[in-house]
Amino acid sequence: MITVHQISQLRNEVRQQRAQGKRIALVPTMGNLHEGHLQLVRRARELADFVAVSIFVNPMQFGANEDFDSYPRTLEQDQEKLTSVGCDLVFAPSANEVYPQGLDQQTQVVVPALTELHCGASRPGHFTGVATVVSMLFNMVQPDVALFGEKDFQQLAVIRKLVRDLCFPIQIEGVPIMREADGLAMSSRNGYLSEEERKIAPRLYQVLQQVRTAIEQGERNYAQLSEVGKTLLTQSGFRPDYFNIVNSQTLQPAQSDDQDITLLVAAYLGQTRLIDNLSLKV
Ligand code: PAJ
Repeated sequence: MITVHQISQLRNEVRQQRAQGKRIALVPTMGNLHEGHLQLVRRARELADFVAVSIFVNPMQFGANEDFDSYPRTLEQDQEKLTSVGCDLVFAPSANEVYPQGLDQQTQVVVPALTELHCGASRPGHFTGVATVVSMLFNMVQPDVALFGEKDFQQLAVIRKLVRDLCFPIQIEGVPIMREADGLAMSSRNGYLSEEERKIAPRLYQVLQQVRTAIEQGERNYAQLSEVGKTLLTQSGFRPDYFNIVNSQTLQPAQSDDQDITLLVAAYLGQTRLIDNLSLKV
Protein backbone atom coordinates (compact mmCIF):
# COMPACT_ATOMS: atom_id res chain seq x y z
CA MET A 1 0.00 0.00 0.00
CA ILE A 2 1.30 3.41 -0.86
CA THR A 3 0.39 6.80 0.60
CA VAL A 4 0.39 9.93 -1.51
CA HIS A 5 -0.27 13.51 -0.43
CA GLN A 6 -0.44 15.31 -3.76
CA ILE A 7 -3.08 15.27 -6.47
CA SER A 8 -0.42 14.86 -9.18
CA GLN A 9 0.99 11.72 -7.49
CA LEU A 10 -2.51 10.36 -7.05
CA ARG A 11 -3.34 10.86 -10.71
CA ASN A 12 -0.06 9.20 -11.74
CA GLU A 13 -0.68 6.10 -9.65
CA VAL A 14 -4.29 5.72 -10.75
CA ARG A 15 -3.40 6.29 -14.40
CA GLN A 16 -0.92 3.40 -14.30
CA GLN A 17 -3.52 1.09 -12.80
CA ARG A 18 -6.16 2.07 -15.31
CA ALA A 19 -3.69 1.50 -18.16
CA GLN A 20 -3.49 -2.12 -16.98
CA GLY A 21 -7.25 -2.38 -17.35
CA LYS A 22 -7.94 -2.39 -13.62
CA ARG A 23 -11.28 -1.40 -12.16
CA ILE A 24 -10.80 1.41 -9.63
CA ALA A 25 -12.74 1.91 -6.38
CA LEU A 26 -12.73 5.01 -4.18
CA VAL A 27 -13.67 5.10 -0.50
CA PRO A 28 -13.77 8.71 0.73
CA THR A 29 -13.19 9.15 4.50
CA MET A 30 -12.10 11.69 7.07
CA GLY A 31 -9.82 9.14 8.76
CA ASN A 32 -9.81 7.94 12.38
CA LEU A 33 -10.91 4.69 10.86
CA HIS A 34 -13.05 2.08 12.59
CA GLU A 35 -14.66 -1.18 11.49
CA GLY A 36 -17.44 0.72 9.69
CA HIS A 37 -14.91 2.34 7.38
CA LEU A 38 -13.02 -0.93 6.96
CA GLN A 39 -16.23 -2.62 5.89
CA LEU A 40 -16.43 -0.16 2.99
CA VAL A 41 -12.88 -1.07 1.99
CA ARG A 42 -13.64 -4.80 2.17
CA ARG A 43 -16.66 -4.30 -0.06
CA ALA A 44 -14.54 -2.18 -2.41
CA ARG A 45 -12.07 -5.06 -2.68
CA GLU A 46 -14.90 -7.28 -3.89
CA LEU A 47 -16.02 -4.77 -6.51
CA ALA A 48 -12.71 -3.52 -7.91
CA ASP A 49 -9.09 -4.46 -8.61
CA PHE A 50 -7.53 -1.33 -7.17
CA VAL A 51 -8.85 0.32 -4.01
CA ALA A 52 -8.04 3.94 -3.14
CA VAL A 53 -9.05 5.45 0.21
CA SER A 54 -8.97 9.19 0.76
CA ILE A 55 -8.36 10.58 4.24
CA PHE A 56 -9.17 14.26 4.44
CA VAL A 57 -10.82 16.16 7.27
CA ASN A 58 -12.69 18.51 4.98
CA PRO A 59 -12.87 22.00 6.50
CA MET A 60 -15.62 23.00 4.07
CA GLN A 61 -18.20 20.67 5.62
CA PHE A 62 -17.72 21.82 9.23
CA GLY A 63 -19.71 24.74 10.68
CA ALA A 64 -17.91 27.54 12.55
CA ASN A 65 -18.87 26.13 15.96
CA GLU A 66 -18.31 22.46 15.06
CA ASP A 67 -15.46 20.08 15.81
CA PHE A 68 -13.08 20.65 12.86
CA ASP A 69 -10.10 21.47 15.10
CA SER A 70 -10.68 18.63 17.56
CA TYR A 71 -11.61 16.02 14.92
CA PRO A 72 -9.18 13.09 15.51
CA ARG A 73 -6.31 12.80 13.03
CA THR A 74 -4.66 9.37 13.27
CA LEU A 75 -2.93 8.75 9.94
CA GLU A 76 -0.43 6.14 11.14
CA GLN A 77 -3.02 3.90 12.79
CA ASP A 78 -5.30 4.40 9.80
CA GLN A 79 -2.54 3.24 7.44
CA GLU A 80 -2.02 0.06 9.49
CA LYS A 81 -5.73 -0.75 9.44
CA LEU A 82 -5.98 -0.09 5.72
CA THR A 83 -3.01 -2.32 4.98
CA SER A 84 -4.71 -5.14 6.88
CA VAL A 85 -7.85 -4.98 4.70
CA GLY A 86 -6.06 -4.82 1.36
CA CYS A 87 -6.26 -1.13 0.46
CA ASP A 88 -3.86 -0.26 -2.38
CA LEU A 89 -3.50 3.48 -2.06
CA VAL A 90 -4.14 6.15 0.57
CA PHE A 91 -4.62 9.73 -0.54
CA ALA A 92 -4.04 12.07 2.40
CA PRO A 93 -3.84 15.63 1.09
CA SER A 94 -3.36 18.82 3.11
CA ALA A 95 -6.10 21.48 3.13
CA ASN A 96 -3.81 23.62 1.00
CA GLU A 97 -3.50 20.88 -1.62
CA VAL A 98 -7.28 20.59 -1.91
CA TYR A 99 -8.18 24.29 -1.51
CA PRO A 100 -5.09 26.23 -2.68
CA GLN A 101 -7.13 29.44 -3.09
CA GLY A 102 -8.79 29.06 0.30
CA LEU A 103 -12.41 28.16 1.00
CA ASP A 104 -13.77 31.59 0.05
CA GLN A 105 -12.53 31.23 -3.52
CA GLN A 106 -13.60 27.62 -3.94
CA THR A 107 -16.22 26.77 -6.58
CA GLN A 108 -19.03 24.93 -4.83
CA VAL A 109 -21.39 22.10 -5.71
CA VAL A 110 -24.85 22.86 -4.33
CA VAL A 111 -27.41 20.08 -4.26
CA PRO A 112 -30.81 21.74 -3.77
CA ALA A 113 -33.82 20.79 -1.63
CA LEU A 114 -32.58 17.46 -0.27
CA THR A 115 -29.79 19.24 1.58
CA GLU A 116 -32.15 21.59 3.40
CA LEU A 117 -33.80 18.83 5.42
CA HIS A 118 -32.71 16.84 8.48
CA CYS A 119 -28.94 17.25 9.03
CA GLY A 120 -28.89 20.02 6.41
CA ALA A 121 -31.36 22.06 8.46
CA SER A 122 -29.21 21.82 11.58
CA ARG A 123 -25.88 22.14 9.75
CA PRO A 124 -26.25 24.86 7.08
CA GLY A 125 -23.62 24.49 4.35
CA HIS A 126 -22.58 21.03 5.53
CA PHE A 127 -23.80 19.14 2.47
CA THR A 128 -22.41 21.76 0.10
CA GLY A 129 -19.04 21.04 1.70
CA VAL A 130 -19.58 17.30 1.29
CA ALA A 131 -20.87 17.56 -2.31
CA THR A 132 -17.99 19.83 -3.28
CA VAL A 133 -15.19 17.71 -1.84
CA VAL A 134 -16.72 14.45 -3.08
CA SER A 135 -17.07 15.90 -6.61
CA MET A 136 -13.43 16.98 -6.46
CA LEU A 137 -12.34 13.54 -5.27
CA PHE A 138 -14.37 11.94 -8.07
CA ASN A 139 -12.53 14.12 -10.59
CA MET A 140 -9.14 13.47 -9.01
CA VAL A 141 -9.49 9.68 -8.94
CA GLN A 142 -12.11 9.07 -11.64
CA PRO A 143 -13.11 5.79 -10.02
CA ASP A 144 -15.43 3.20 -11.56
CA VAL A 145 -17.17 2.72 -8.23
CA ALA A 146 -17.33 4.77 -5.02
CA LEU A 147 -18.57 3.44 -1.68
CA PHE A 148 -20.46 5.23 1.08
CA GLY A 149 -22.02 4.04 4.35
CA GLU A 150 -25.73 3.94 5.01
CA LYS A 151 -24.83 5.29 8.46
CA ASP A 152 -24.93 8.71 6.78
CA PHE A 153 -28.22 8.02 5.03
CA GLN A 154 -28.87 11.57 3.86
CA GLN A 155 -25.28 11.99 2.67
CA LEU A 156 -25.66 8.87 0.52
CA ALA A 157 -28.89 10.28 -0.98
CA VAL A 158 -27.16 13.60 -1.68
CA ILE A 159 -24.30 11.82 -3.43
CA ARG A 160 -26.61 9.65 -5.52
CA LYS A 161 -28.40 12.81 -6.65
CA LEU A 162 -25.22 14.69 -7.44
CA VAL A 163 -23.87 11.78 -9.48
CA ARG A 164 -27.11 11.65 -11.47
CA ASP A 165 -27.44 15.41 -11.89
CA LEU A 166 -23.81 16.01 -12.91
CA CYS A 167 -23.53 12.81 -15.00
CA PHE A 168 -20.54 11.35 -13.17
CA PRO A 169 -19.89 7.94 -14.78
CA ILE A 170 -19.48 6.34 -11.35
CA GLN A 171 -21.37 3.51 -9.68
CA ILE A 172 -22.38 4.45 -6.13
CA GLU A 173 -22.45 1.57 -3.67
CA GLY A 174 -24.16 1.91 -0.28
CA VAL A 175 -22.85 -0.25 2.57
CA PRO A 176 -24.97 -1.25 5.62
CA ILE A 177 -24.28 0.30 9.04
CA MET A 178 -21.67 -1.43 11.22
CA ARG A 179 -22.65 -1.43 14.88
CA GLU A 180 -20.94 -2.13 18.19
CA ALA A 181 -22.11 -5.26 20.04
CA ASP A 182 -24.59 -3.11 22.02
CA GLY A 183 -26.10 -1.66 18.82
CA LEU A 184 -24.41 1.75 18.80
CA ALA A 185 -23.55 2.70 15.22
CA MET A 186 -19.78 2.95 14.87
CA SER A 187 -18.60 6.54 14.46
CA SER A 188 -15.41 8.49 14.89
CA ARG A 189 -17.42 10.81 17.15
CA ASN A 190 -18.17 7.99 19.63
CA GLY A 191 -14.66 8.63 20.93
CA TYR A 192 -15.84 11.98 22.31
CA LEU A 193 -18.31 10.26 24.69
CA SER A 194 -17.59 10.09 28.44
CA GLU A 195 -17.94 6.72 30.15
CA GLU A 196 -21.41 7.73 31.38
CA GLU A 197 -22.52 8.94 27.95
CA ARG A 198 -21.19 5.81 26.28
CA LYS A 199 -23.53 3.75 28.47
CA ILE A 200 -26.51 5.82 27.36
CA ALA A 201 -25.55 5.97 23.66
CA PRO A 202 -27.02 2.55 22.60
CA ARG A 203 -30.46 3.89 23.55
CA LEU A 204 -30.42 5.81 20.26
CA TYR A 205 -30.72 2.57 18.27
CA GLN A 206 -33.09 1.04 20.83
CA VAL A 207 -35.49 3.95 20.42
CA LEU A 208 -35.35 3.54 16.63
CA GLN A 209 -36.22 -0.12 17.13
CA GLN A 210 -39.08 0.72 19.51
CA VAL A 211 -40.60 3.10 16.98
CA ARG A 212 -40.12 0.53 14.21
CA THR A 213 -42.05 -1.98 16.31
CA ALA A 214 -44.93 0.49 16.68
CA ILE A 215 -45.03 0.92 12.88
CA GLU A 216 -44.87 -2.84 12.34
CA GLN A 217 -47.84 -3.14 14.69
CA GLY A 218 -49.84 -0.83 12.44
CA GLU A 219 -49.26 2.68 13.81
CA ARG A 220 -49.29 5.15 10.89
CA ASN A 221 -49.44 8.53 12.62
CA TYR A 222 -45.83 9.35 11.79
CA ALA A 223 -45.93 12.91 13.12
CA GLN A 224 -47.00 11.59 16.49
CA LEU A 225 -44.48 8.74 16.40
CA SER A 226 -41.69 11.28 15.79
CA GLU A 227 -42.74 13.07 18.95
CA VAL A 228 -42.77 9.75 20.82
CA GLY A 229 -39.23 9.06 19.57
CA LYS A 230 -38.01 12.46 20.74
CA THR A 231 -39.64 12.04 24.13
CA LEU A 232 -38.06 8.61 24.62
CA LEU A 233 -34.66 10.09 23.73
CA THR A 234 -35.08 13.02 26.10
CA GLN A 235 -36.07 10.63 28.88
CA SER A 236 -32.87 8.65 28.22
CA GLY A 237 -30.66 11.74 28.60
CA PHE A 238 -30.31 12.89 24.97
CA ARG A 239 -31.05 16.30 23.53
CA PRO A 240 -32.82 15.33 20.30
CA ASP A 241 -31.99 17.42 17.23
CA TYR A 242 -34.56 15.70 15.01
CA PHE A 243 -36.47 12.43 14.79
CA ASN A 244 -37.96 12.25 11.31
CA ILE A 245 -39.89 9.47 9.61
CA VAL A 246 -39.37 9.78 5.87
CA ASN A 247 -39.93 8.18 2.50
CA SER A 248 -36.64 6.32 1.90
CA GLN A 249 -36.31 7.62 -1.68
CA THR A 250 -37.34 11.27 -1.37
CA LEU A 251 -36.45 11.82 2.31
CA GLN A 252 -39.68 13.81 2.55
CA PRO A 253 -42.04 13.16 5.49
CA ALA A 254 -43.52 9.68 5.11
CA GLN A 255 -47.16 9.41 4.04
CA SER A 256 -49.38 6.73 5.54
CA ASP A 257 -49.36 4.72 2.26
CA ASP A 258 -45.55 4.84 1.72
CA GLN A 259 -43.97 1.39 1.63
CA ASP A 260 -40.24 2.16 2.04
CA ILE A 261 -39.73 4.14 5.19
CA THR A 262 -36.66 5.34 7.02
CA LEU A 263 -36.40 6.65 10.56
CA LEU A 264 -33.72 9.34 10.71
CA VAL A 265 -32.41 10.56 14.03
CA ALA A 266 -29.82 13.02 15.32
CA ALA A 267 -29.35 13.71 19.01
CA TYR A 268 -26.80 15.24 21.34
CA LEU A 269 -25.28 13.47 24.29
CA GLY A 270 -23.48 16.28 26.10
CA GLN A 271 -21.49 18.04 23.37
CA THR A 272 -21.46 15.05 21.02
CA ARG A 273 -23.91 14.86 18.14
CA LEU A 274 -24.80 11.29 17.15
CA ILE A 275 -26.83 10.18 14.13
CA ASP A 276 -28.46 6.88 13.25
CA ASN A 277 -31.21 5.52 11.02
CA LEU A 278 -33.35 2.49 10.42
CA SER A 279 -35.14 1.52 7.22
CA LEU A 280 -38.18 -0.73 6.99
CA LYS A 281 -40.77 -1.93 4.52
CA VAL A 282 -44.40 -1.53 5.55
P1 PAJ B 1 -16.51 9.75 7.49
O1 PAJ B 1 -17.40 10.20 8.59
O2 PAJ B 1 -15.07 9.47 7.81
O3 PAJ B 1 -17.14 8.48 6.85
C1 PAJ B 1 -16.57 7.90 5.72
C2 PAJ B 1 -17.52 6.85 5.17
O4 PAJ B 1 -17.68 5.81 6.14
C3 PAJ B 1 -18.92 7.43 4.91
O5 PAJ B 1 -19.41 6.92 3.68
C4 PAJ B 1 -19.71 6.90 6.09
O6 PAJ B 1 -21.09 6.76 5.82
C5 PAJ B 1 -19.04 5.57 6.34
N1 PAJ B 1 -19.28 5.09 7.70
C6 PAJ B 1 -19.01 5.74 8.86
N2 PAJ B 1 -19.43 5.01 9.92
C7 PAJ B 1 -19.99 3.89 9.41
C8 PAJ B 1 -20.63 2.74 9.98
N3 PAJ B 1 -20.77 2.59 11.30
N4 PAJ B 1 -21.09 1.78 9.16
C9 PAJ B 1 -20.97 1.91 7.80
N5 PAJ B 1 -20.38 2.97 7.21
C10 PAJ B 1 -19.90 3.93 7.99
O7 PAJ B 1 -18.66 10.75 5.70
C11 PAJ B 1 -17.59 11.32 5.67
O8 PAJ B 1 -16.48 10.85 6.32
C12 PAJ B 1 -17.37 12.58 4.85
O9 PAJ B 1 -18.55 13.33 4.83
C13 PAJ B 1 -16.87 12.32 3.41
C14 PAJ B 1 -17.89 11.52 2.60
C15 PAJ B 1 -15.53 11.59 3.44
C16 PAJ B 1 -16.66 13.69 2.68
O10 PAJ B 1 -15.75 14.47 3.36
